[in-house]
Amino acid sequence: MKTYFLLPLLILLAMPVSAAKMSTPSKAPKSYEVECASCHMAYPPGLLGQKNWQNILAGLDKHFGVDASIDAKTQTEITQWLIKNAATKEKYSSFAPENRITKSAWFIREHDEVRADVWKRDAIKGPANCSVCHTDAANGGFSENNIRIPSK
Ligand code: HEC
Ligand code: HEC
Repeated sequence: MKTYFLLPLLILLAMPVSAAKMSTPSKAPKSYEVECASCHMAYPPGLLGQKNWQNILAGLDKHFGVDASIDAKTQTEITQWLIKNAATKEKYSSFAPENRITKSAWFIREHDEVRADVWKRDAIKGPANCSVCHTDAANGGFSENNIRIPSK
């Protein structure tokens, strides 16, 4: 009886996470959209490991040159959700230098065909602006079928 109940759950847990579609296992709290998507897109939690997310949420007063502080209750809520949904596969969960998705080994590898001058184009303004090129990024989609690189 118990085994039957657990079986679908085990199958679900064993499913591989595909890079092309970053599924979000549990819905983001509203605060994540409000507090973490005003300056850049709401990055999918599965693109960084737990330690990176912990560091980011613990250092919001000095967040990549800006003050992105939030109240303690919201900070706890977002931290817990990010940690729960952080990357588990080694490719994405390995510690990313500077707590940046864009400095992780997989990111650099997947983007090695993007020339240095392309990142600097006015419409792109650096690798952290995923959704400029990945047109389905807001839905967690990074498939190569949904890429459009602005020409300037
Ligand atoms: C006041 C604006 C602002 C807010 C609010 C903000 N950020 Fe950022 N964030 C930035 C800036 C600026 C960068 C650096 C972007 C760049 O290098 O192009 C950044 C970068 C990041 C990066 C690294 C991107 C990379 O290079 O891989 C992550 C991850 C991140 N933010 C997560 C968060 C989370 C989580 C929150 C909510 C708790 C948040 N941010 C709220 C401004 C903000
Ligand atoms: C300048 C445009 C551009 C920006 C900005 C950009 N990417 Fe990409 N991304 C690409 C290109 C081009 C590829 C290579 C696609 C291919 O393999 O043909 C790629 C590949 C990927 C892949 C692998 C897709 C696959 O199906 O194999 C992932 C995941 C990804 N990007 C995530 C991100 C994330 C997350 C960000 C922001 C932190 C980002 N990208 C920012 C252009 C961009």
